[in-house]
Amino acid sequence: LNIGVLVSGGGTNLQAIIDGTKFGGIKGDIKVVISNKEDTYALERAKHNNIEAVYETDEDRVIQILKNHKVDLVVLAGYLKIISPKFVESFREKIINIHPSLIPSFCGEGYYGEKVHQAVIDYGVKVTGATVHFVDEKADNGPIIMQDTVDVNHDDDAKSVAKKVLEVEHKILNESIKLFCENKLSIQGRRVFINE
Ligand code: GRF
Repeated sequence: LNIGVLVSGGGTNLQAIIDGTKFGGIKGDIKVVISNKEDTYALERAKHNNIEAVYETDEDRVIQILKNHKVDLVVLAGYLKIISPKFVESFREKIINIHPSLIPSFCGEGYYGEKVHQAVIDYGVKVTGATVHFVDEKADNGPIIMQDTVDVNHDDDAKSVAKKVLEVEHKILNESIKLFCENKLSIQGRRVFINE
């Protein structure tokens, strides 16, 4: 399948997907990486791997670029922009997002990046983690594909939790994309079933 990846930051999730397509058995090719931030390392990572890297902030042009590359799967990998209902409709059930918490905790408006992990520390939860989900019209709200957890210990702070969660993100994002490319995911209402 043809994959398009949308990024905003350092691109460690992008790197995980690149590695997954090269060595991890993902039956898909990343055709284009699009960032809404101009000089971000994620675009460098794409260039280093001979993947088309585009800086684009206009959503209509983003959709057109993805269509031009005949993208079958759009991955939001650290993409810090809410996508419009029009975008969701253009790729219905073909957009997945990685969020650094166990949705529905610590998600939605204002919960992104380090803020998520600070809220986890401040609340005093003992377990957090990451979630891969299909994207629908509401932020961080679509059917959940996969989740995994990390412990929050007394000596953890936002930074140490972020580091542990990022590892889990890379793992479950790759596993979810692999399953999508093998057409093993089916959505029934709010629930996603994996047909192994
Ligand atoms: C990180 O906060 C990660 O938890 C979230 O997006 C941010 C950037 O990730 N998914 P990346 O390193 O750019 O993939």
